[in-house]
Amino acid sequence: MNDIKVGLIGFGNIGAGVVKLLTNNAEVIRGKVGAGIVLKRIADRDITTDRGVAVDPSCMTTDVNDIFDDPEISVVIELVGGYEPAKSFVLRAIEKGKHIVTANKALLALHGQDIFAAAARKNVEVQFEAAVGGGIPVLTAIKGNMAANNFGSVFGIMNGTCNYILTRMTQEGADFADMLTAAQELGYAEPDPTFDIEGVDTAHKLAILVSLCFGTRIDFNAIHTEGISRISGLDVKFARDFGYRIKLLAIGKLSDGKVEARVHPTMIPLHNPMADVNGVFNAIRLTGDFVGAVMFYGRGAGQDPTASAIVGDLIGLSRSMLAGAGRRMAPLGLMDEQVRDLPVKPM
Ligand code: HSE
Repeated sequence: MNDIKVGLIGFGNIGAGVVKLLTNNAEVIRGKVGAGIVLKRIADRDITTDRGVAVDPSCMTTDVNDIFDDPEISVVIELVGGYEPAKSFVLRAIEKGKHIVTANKALLALHGQDIFAAAARKNVEVQFEAAVGGGIPVLTAIKGNMAANNFGSVFGIMNGTCNYILTRMTQEGADFADMLTAAQELGYAEPDPTFDIEGVDTAHKLAILVSLCFGTRIDFNAIHTEGISRISGLDVKFARDFGYRIKLLAIGKLSDGKVEARVHPTMIPLHNPMADVNGVFNAIRLTGDFVGAVMFYGRGAGQDPTASAIVGDLIGLSRSMLAGAGRRMAPLGLMDEQVRDLPVKPM
C-alpha cells in the first residue's frame, strides 16, 4: 500500500510532538493504517531552531506553497493557531483538495462554517479532535458512539493552563504570575496566554462543543466569558477554608429551545469530582437522553497528549482514504446546510 504523505504547517511545541510520535510509534501506526504516514514537508517561518526532534533538513521550508503545490501531499496538518494566517492556509489547502487535521479551536469557533462549507465543496475532510481537551477523545465520541443522543448539557474544565495555575495556587499558595510562566514553560499556554487566562480559549472550546452537541450555530460573542486573571491567592484560600475549590468552568445547556453558554470561575464543592481535577488535566461531562451522564478525564494540554489526538485523526483519515471511503458528513452545527440557529440566553 502507498504511504500517506502529509504536510505540516507550524512547527512549534505541538508540531515537534507530532514529529516525535510519528517517528517513535511508526510501526504501531503502520500496523493500524496498513501503510506508513510520512511527513513530507514542514513549513514554518523559522526553520533553523532545534525543536529537539530529528527532522531531515530537506523537509523544511519557509514557503507554504511547497505543501499546497505538492500533489503527493494529501493531508495538511495546521498547527499555526489563531485566526490568520491559519484560516487562509486551511482554505488554500482545501482548495488544493487536501484533507485537514487541525488543533485550532480559535479558527473553528469563529470560522468553522466557512471552513466546513469549503471542505464540503471540495469533498475533503476536516478533523479536529485536538482542538478540545488535548488528548481526550471527546469530539470523536460525540460525533461517533454517542451521536444518537439528544444532548442536554456539556460542561467542564477545558483549559490546562488555568487549571494548572489554580491547582498550584490552591495546593502551594503559589503566585499567579509565576504559575503562568511555569505553564508557558511546560508548553501548555497559547502563544498569546491572555486567551488562556481570560477564558477565551475555554470559550472557543465551548463553542465547538455546543455546536456539535446541540447542532446549532453559536455566536461566539454571545458566550459570557470571564477568566481567572482577577482570582487572588486570598480567593483561593477562602474557597478552600469553606470546602470549595475554584475552577474555570465552561457550561453549555440546552433548554426550552435556547442555548446557555458561559465561561467563568466557579466554586466547586469538594465532594464534586470536578474539584479533584488538578494540574493540566481537563474533565468534560456530557448528558445525553439515552446514554445518561458521561465524563471524560485526561491531560488537556501539552505536547504529547495533543500529538496523540492529532495523529489519531491522521490515522482515521488515512484509513478512510485507503479504504476509498466517500466523504464523511461534516459535523452538525459547523456546516451551513445542516445548521439550526438557536438563541443564546442572555446572562
Ligand atoms: N492553552 C490550551 C490549554 C492548550 O492550556 O488548555 C490546549 O488546548
